[in-house]
Amino acid sequence: MPHSKNYDVLIVGSGGAGLTLALKLADHTTSVAVLSKFALTSSSTYYAQGGISAVFDADDSLESHIEDTLDAGAGLCNPDIVRLTVTHGKSSIDWLREQGVVFTEEENQSGETQLHLNREGGHSHRRVVHSADATGKAVSLSLIERAREHPSIELFEHHSVVELITAPTPDRAGKQVLGAYVLDTRKNRVKTMSARVVVLATGGANMAYIYSTNPHSSTGDGIALAWRAGCRVSNMEFMQFHPTCLYHPEARSFLISEALRGEGGRLVLADGSSFMQNFDPRGELAPRDIVARAIDHEMKKRGIDCVYLDISHKPAEFIREHFPTIYQQCLEFDIDITKQPIPVVPAAHYTCGGVLTDSYARTDIKNLYAVGEVASTGLHGANRMASNSLLECLVFAERASEDILLKLPNIPSTPAIRDWDESKVSDSDEEVVVSHNWNELRHFMWDYVGIVRTDKRLSRAMNRVELLKKEIAEYYSHFRVTSDLLELRNLVIVAELIIRCAQQRKESRGLHYTLDYPETDNSKPPQNTILMP
Ligand code: FAD
Ligand code: SIN
Repeated sequence: MPHSKNYDVLIVGSGGAGLTLALKLADHTTSVAVLSKFALTSSSTYYAQGGISAVFDADDSLESHIEDTLDAGAGLCNPDIVRLTVTHGKSSIDWLREQGVVFTEEENQSGETQLHLNREGGHSHRRVVHSADATGKAVSLSLIERAREHPSIELFEHHSVVELITAPTPDRAGKQVLGAYVLDTRKNRVKTMSARVVVLATGGANMAYIYSTNPHSSTGDGIALAWRAGCRVSNMEFMQFHPTCLYHPEARSFLISEALRGEGGRLVLADGSSFMQNFDPRGELAPRDIVARAIDHEMKKRGIDCVYLDISHKPAEFIREHFPTIYQQCLEFDIDITKQPIPVVPAAHYTCGGVLTDSYARTDIKNLYAVGEVASTGLHGANRMASNSLLECLVFAERASEDILLKLPNIPSTPAIRDWDESKVSDSDEEVVVSHNWNELRHFMWDYVGIVRTDKRLSRAMNRVELLKKEIAEYYSHFRVTSDLLELRNLVIVAELIIRCAQQRKESRGLHYTLDYPETDNSKPPQNTILMP
């Protein structure tokens, strides 16, 4: 039975990147479809805490924001992309406010109302615009509301892309995208969705690790889809581990924002002694790679399960006002952060690499774009600076919209596409294979491809990936697709890409740290790792 429908633009993902793009396109196009694998709010965007970096402080400057971003990126940022992104900071915040997002304000000394700015690691100024400690929720809910209201936008929850549909370009010089096969996970049916333009806004791949700050949706689907379709992928070795995730047996991946350290929170051991000054003169506000490695070092050296983040020296009222979500969440686990330190551990947080894109978010495949965490734009280099990610989502959604609107009138409607063929598969009788492999993969990625790597650990991980790939390919060819199977199939590809990139980098740089090559190789210009499909 054909289930085909044609759209101008098919956007895969309902996070900050996908919804911003949809709203920027919607007034100028008739049909924009936005897919979300689960509920619309199941995105990293929704859970973002600290905020969005942009220059508002009178003492701050664009040059300073650029310099801090380049410094955190350890020689691998693309300076043009950094400048492009940073210079769009203020206009991106203004646009969000027009969409109804309310940011935290304060009164300045002259009694005027202005945005309150957080401070985070790597930033030399207060520069992070925020909605208390739940910035992502404020952004997500406003954008979802705007998108729901717009007659040109159709939202599809519980729809997961199985595969992109591509064909040779008319001149046969490359490939073009024609749409996607999409699993409606509620009805268990694969639909064909044709579109003149497809945009991947699927977020990161941080669920490749057993401990992650991310929601379940971050399984790197967009990276795997683009890779299988023939796009280059770059810099996947730079997986960012956030230093402070709540450590509690019942707390699943709850982040303790870097903004706590920005307001004076100290990292301490169980006896109250601090240790960050032994690793970096910037102490608690050193870039994330340094802080996460320092914590990992202390935990391994001392055989301890966690370290502590202590902000209890600040007035209780200040803590409750600035960090209401974190205060409440910790209280649910009997931790009163106004009185006691918070047990914390690092966890996989952000994917700096991804699908290689240009400054308009274009990929190697004609009419296929990638925006947000799924993309590797050159902004983050070897380490993303805090709160630059939401900014990247906003800026590159804007850039993609400009390019798409320019091109759309000249893109013909898509030809008829064959529907998904399920005639040779049956329902699985062994779901346990999927759940077992999910766990196995995420465990060995944590143990062997985590904060500290070695050649031996990487090759052990690669051996396991090879086995899993075979098993999953066999399973995929025999059984009807399910959401879990699709994610596992993507995760194993992403794991392979992370390991391959890590194996190619014979030095330590930014987030990639290996005991076999502990120094940064300054004998030649820094190189991005680019994998060809
Ligand atoms: P996401 O927001 O992750 O959205 C991805 C979307 O794609 C989801 O809707 C998902 O359902 C959909 N999707 C995925 N695969 C498929 C598929 N196969 N089919 C259909 N749909 C699919 N960054 C900052 O700048 N500031 C912060 O304060 C900050 N805090 C953070 C706190 C936490 C806890 C986390 C996890 C991240 C934080 N980050 C922060 C990072 C930032 O939130 C993300 O990088 C950013 O939100 C990514 O946005 P995105 O739109 O690219 O992806
Ligand atoms: C945080 O609030 O610590 C997260 C900020 C980020 O990941 O940019």
